[in-house]
Amino acid sequence: MPRIAYVNGRYLPIREASVSIEDRGYQFSDGVYEVCEVRAGAIIDERLHLERLRRSLDELRIPLPLSPRALTVIMREIIRRNRVRDGIVYVQMTRGVARRDHAFPPPGTTPSVVVTARSLDTVGNERRAAQGITVITVPETRWARPDIKSISLLPNVLAKQAARERGAAEAWFVDRDGRITEGASTNAWIITKDREVVTRPADNGILRGITRTVLIQVLKTRSLRFEERTFTVAEAYEADEAFATAASQIVMPVVRIDDRMIGDGTPGPVAKSLREAFHAHAERS
Ligand code: PDD
Repeated sequence: MPRIAYVNGRYLPIREASVSIEDRGYQFSDGVYEVCEVRAGAIIDERLHLERLRRSLDELRIPLPLSPRALTVIMREIIRRNRVRDGIVYVQMTRGVARRDHAFPPPGTTPSVVVTARSLDTVGNERRAAQGITVITVPETRWARPDIKSISLLPNVLAKQAARERGAAEAWFVDRDGRITEGASTNAWIITKDREVVTRPADNGILRGITRTVLIQVLKTRSLRFEERTFTVAEAYEADEAFATAASQIVMPVVRIDDRMIGDGTPGPVAKSLREAFHAHAERS
């Protein structure tokens, strides 16, 4: 069965799906994206993802090229046509196709829309979560607005590759003050020695993860202490537990940071129980 992509109004087999070489996404990374989890055929936290998409577009002054309603219909159609039960749906919008010129193209240039979906290896993901992952730390080299979910991901690509080359699954960026910002494609969390759940405040320096937002709601139902504050690499090394969050992996326990074992080197009880509880709090549509 060929995979099907939605590209600017058409559903096409991936091999035939293409955008112009003058697409501003291709030339300037001038665009934004979203990734939603698909679970048992339903989209998880779609409303929050679409709100964030709207915000990213607004920040870059890219007009939404279709109604939110039309977009949700397309997302479902792509999930259906690709027979995705458990996986992700990917939405990308760029400023459109125009002769190369850094400044914005003429008014009326239509933004490009691409939607794809694919299945994820849920068994493999569960196995990984049961073992926990290793992360490495790398210097923060991104621009000052990672809160915009831009398709410009070069530092993230290099960080993830560095992780892979060192046998790790994720890289956590560290700012100039020695504080962890977030992962190459995840938000970063620790549980300190005195049992406080900590994640960095969602200012302009990190992406306000939807999984992060929903998990904060889950934490409010628990008798755990939670604080949004910055934390250092040294604090992370000493943590009882650590984990990463993203739509594609929910709560992923971290058992090693650089060459330091976290806790007893196995997934911590809080991370495990948050992973189990997450979907009871998430919206399905
Ligand atoms: N990544 N931080 C960064 C830099 C991310 O790229 C992501 C998501 C997150 C977590 O956000 P959310 O919980 O909304 O998925 C944090 C997606 C999954 C990706 O790029 O594939």
